[in-house]
Amino acid sequence: MVIYSFKNFSYAYYGVTKVFENLNLRIGSNNPQIVAFVGPSGSGKTTLLSVMAKLVEDYSGEVLFEEKNLKDWKELEFRKKVLMLLQSPEKQLFEENILADVLYTLKYDNLTVEEKMLKAQRVLELVGLPKDRWDKPYYRLSGGEARKAALAAVLVKDSEVLLLDEPTSGIDSETRQELYRIFKNLKRAGKSIFFSSHDVYFVKAVSDEVFFVDNGLVKPAENVEKARYWGVV
Ligand SMILES: Nc1ncnc2c1ncn2[C@@H]1O[C@H](COP(=O)(O)OP(=O)(O)OP(=O)(O)O)[C@@H](O)[C@H]1O
Ligand SMILES: [Mg+2]
Repeated sequence: MVIYSFKNFSYAYYGVTKVFENLNLRIGSNNPQIVAFVGPSGSGKTTLLSVMAKLVEDYSGEVLFEEKNLKDWKELEFRKKVLMLLQSPEKQLFEENILADVLYTLKYDNLTVEEKMLKAQRVLELVGLPKDRWDKPYYRLSGGEARKAALAAVLVKDSEVLLLDEPTSGIDSETRQELYRIFKNLKRAGKSIFFSSHDVYFVKAVSDEVFFVDNGLVKPAENVEKARYWGVV
């Protein structure tokens, strides 16, 4: 089963700023996969992930998720399966502290308070956010710490599909390595990850498939564009 299919997909912000035009594309398969979107700033990576996350719907054409039209998916049912890490952590975090932010993701889950707390603590440890930051709001953290917190707030849910917009942006090399391990472990646990990144080394190391986003199109990055992007030609 293909995870996402785009059929004659076009998108322009406010009907004016064209981002994608007549895109036909199939992304992801039955097997858990790590799929990267690369491409220049402003090429449409965030827009594409936002569409895949059902956050943007005023496009033309069709987008299917697990072979069912994205617009026909019930909100709650869809959110159980797919979560997105937004490009800016401050758009994702809003509670009085980081721990509360992570717990918020589990708000409607059928778990006891203790179970939720345990999950939240585990995931905050997993992303390497020191304990003395957990009781602070995101605006008292550094940029990289805030991104780790936002990532924790997404990973805590155990979603089948993770859409991560620039998870490597602004984080230290130790966390980057940890992120590599987290990605591989998530894949082993049966999850699919779609992410955008400007970090070519990370992308090269972790991805099963790379798509190049540019000029209104999304293409498998196997040709000259890929080489150009990697700085090879
Ligand atoms: N809220 C918005 N309103 C109007 N135009 C927008 C909006 N967000 C993005 N755009 C435009 O859509 C295009 C694609 O933007 P997008 O954010 O998807 O790019 P990106 O590939 O994620 O870039 P980056 O690598 O800088 O994150 C850009 O030309 C941008 O100017
Ligand atoms: Mg972006």
